[in-house]
Amino acid sequence: MQHDTDDKEIAEQILAIKEALGEDLLILTHHYQRKEIVDLGDYRGDSFGLSQKAAADKAARFIVFCGVHFMAESAEILSRPHQTVQIPDLEAGCWMADMADIYIVEKAWGEVASICGEESVMPIVYMNSDAVLKAFCGRHGGAVCTSSNAPAAFRWGFSGREKILFFPDQHLGRNTGNQMAIPAEEMIVWNPHKPLGGNTQESIKKAKVILWDGYCLVHTRFRVEHVLRMRERFPEAKIVVHPECTQEVVGLADAVGSTSFIVKYVANAPPNTTIIVGTEVNLIDRLAMENPDKNVFNLHHSLCPNMFKINLKNLLWTLENIGQVNVITVPEETKADARMALDRMLALAPL
Ligand code: 13P
Ligand code: SF4
Repeated sequence: MQHDTDDKEIAEQILAIKEALGEDLLILTHHYQRKEIVDLGDYRGDSFGLSQKAAADKAARFIVFCGVHFMAESAEILSRPHQTVQIPDLEAGCWMADMADIYIVEKAWGEVASICGEESVMPIVYMNSDAVLKAFCGRHGGAVCTSSNAPAAFRWGFSGREKILFFPDQHLGRNTGNQMAIPAEEMIVWNPHKPLGGNTQESIKKAKVILWDGYCLVHTRFRVEHVLRMRERFPEAKIVVHPECTQEVVGLADAVGSTSFIVKYVANAPPNTTIIVGTEVNLIDRLAMENPDKNVFNLHHSLCPNMFKINLKNLLWTLENIGQVNVITVPEETKADARMALDRMLALAPL
């Protein structure tokens, strides 16, 4: 009870600061944020939509990003010089993004290039990555992509070069390759801890897609048994999952797409539909609340602890110290190269 009263008071203080700052403040919230945070934001969206918003906004002097670090960092790269981007908790990272760093990616790039020639490989980096990796792609003619435009990014990549090096999420990469009917034997996994990523020269030459050995711990928790169990319990249900799930889970689902795709899928389903969702649980709980005419259940309970680090208290603290604390900065040189890769992404509309 005390907890609810505190939350209400904090929310009121946040609203008062929002009103005082008016157009100077833009609060962006990712779909995985807690309901109370999303309710206080100016815009909620998937990684692509949030980047579009950050790139388009000219009015706000302060952008407060309620999401994880790589998202806020991308907003900073896309923002204008007079804008400051802050995140309520600098520790809100992403485990998957941490699975690739510039040293091991450059080593892999060098090895692949020595076998196939640099001009035949297009580097495409998932949004869930550090700015220096986006900059690496920008410098090498590549692009960033999100879960909503990965197929468009792959098509774009193949229009320029023979192969794609995709990092860090092997599952998004594989699911995208499957969607494009690329044979399994032409998609190899690159394990950065093994010589040649654990591949032979022959398999690297033959590969169309080289998939970094990274994954999301939140989405790889969904397993085939969960899908089968839910199908048995709710034979009439529709199952929709995020493309960070394994190909086995995606293969058994009725639909796959980004968090915004999932939101629209549930919203557009006819009343009384039962929908089982395979993604982060805060989004699913909110979808269930916001769609009371439908039965929305999770495929399995899976929470992203990093997204959960943003709360009312640290949002209020950030707003009380607007423009001062937890400011995201990216060195100018990295910014310029990363911006090229992000601009290429923004030109690739979601399907
Ligand atoms: P979306 O781009 O679909 O919002 O996904 C971001 C993410 O981190 C999923 O785990
Ligand atoms: Fe990263 Fe997975 Fe959390 Fe998304 S859900 S932010 S990929 S750890």
